[in-house]
Amino acid sequence: MHGLAKTGDAAGVVGQLPTDLATFTGRQEELAQLIRAATHQRDNEAANTVVISAIEGMAGVGKTQLAIHTAHQLVRSGRFVDVQLHANLRGFDAELPPTDPSTVLEAFLRQLGVPVQQIPGSRDERAAMFRDRLRERHALILLDNAADENQVRDLIPAGPTCLVLITSRRSLTALDNATPYRLDVFTESESLALLARIAGHQRVAAEPEAAARIAEYCGHLPLAVSLAAARLRSRPAWSLRHLADKLRDGRLSAIRAGNRALRPVFHLSYQELDEPLRRVFRLLGHHPGPDTTPAQVAALADIPDDQAEDALEQLQDEHLLAQPTPGRYELHDLLRLLAVELAAVEPEPEPAAPLTRLAT
Ligand SMILES: Nc1ncnc2c1ncn2[C@@H]1O[C@H](COP(=O)(O)OP(=O)(O)OP(=O)(O)O)[C@@H](O)[C@H]1O
Ligand SMILES: [Mg+2]
Repeated sequence: MHGLAKTGDAAGVVGQLPTDLATFTGRQEELAQLIRAATHQRDNEAANTVVISAIEGMAGVGKTQLAIHTAHQLVRSGRFVDVQLHANLRGFDAELPPTDPSTVLEAFLRQLGVPVQQIPGSRDERAAMFRDRLRERHALILLDNAADENQVRDLIPAGPTCLVLITSRRSLTALDNATPYRLDVFTESESLALLARIAGHQRVAAEPEAAARIAEYCGHLPLAVSLAAARLRSRPAWSLRHLADKLRDGRLSAIRAGNRALRPVFHLSYQELDEPLRRVFRLLGHHPGPDTTPAQVAALADIPDDQAEDALEQLQDEHLLAQPTPGRYELHDLLRLLAVELAAVEPEPEPAAPLTRLAT
């Protein structure tokens, strides 16, 4: 009610944010950056456009949770209190296709108080009405799991009073005015803090070495750490060492808890690729070193250097690879394990050939 009184708007307050994670851990720097971007422009009189922050990164790195946490923090501090909209765009979903932006617009307009019979039929008209409804309103729009730029373009309001937070496994390079935030895995201390929070501080304090091994086997990937921690919580009799040994022996398969597992989450990113890119990804599983160059991949895959570089760049845009220094590409440990597995399932016609080519 107080929202209604405050805005004097018939639509009143709209709060659609998903619940914040009770065990949210770390990310202080990233959070501060996002909050600064969201609030700075508003304090700057010259600002005349919406702020768009795109959080991107590999599967399970914590994009969604960071976006939700940022949104709650902003609302708690009195920003964007009128309207908070949320849509799961299902850019990477095993069962369902990406959400149609026109459907999202319809839902947003309904939530903004537009009677169903007044919602236009075409996407363009819906987008225009959406922009109009949000004019001069302090709205936060959280677009989770975006598939690509086209899916989000019409869901972005125009005015500087709004904030759009987007998450995606893909780099949305063609989205005008969006600032990308590349989210990396946890630091070791963030991993250990989350492990302790879920599995129990005493257990982690009692076996610091095993805890560090668990975090390491999880590659400090938040999803992996949270699954390992949940598995420990459900097995009070296990020592941390017991789980660490299981992770060492079972690797990808061992990172699961109840009916949640890591492999299917990763596999979706791979499935989204075209076959030539899938092949390059699988071949990376053959590569012995910690990082690789276009020339090495060209040899492995028996393709020209520029094609190899192009493939590596595309895999980087899909956040299946990182490029810590120019020209050198690196796979996350757990993604390397996936590549090795996939290479075994779908071997090259002459399995020894890639390594022979690499060695010559
Ligand atoms: N900062 C965090 N604190 C605590 N747990 C976290 C944090 N970030 C992520 N997690 C854990 O990791 C899981 C995966 O995080 P999240 O869903 O945000 O990943 P994502 O990057 O959005 O993945 P996807 O690409 O599949 O959408 C969460 O369900 C949660 O258990
Ligand atoms: Mg997500």
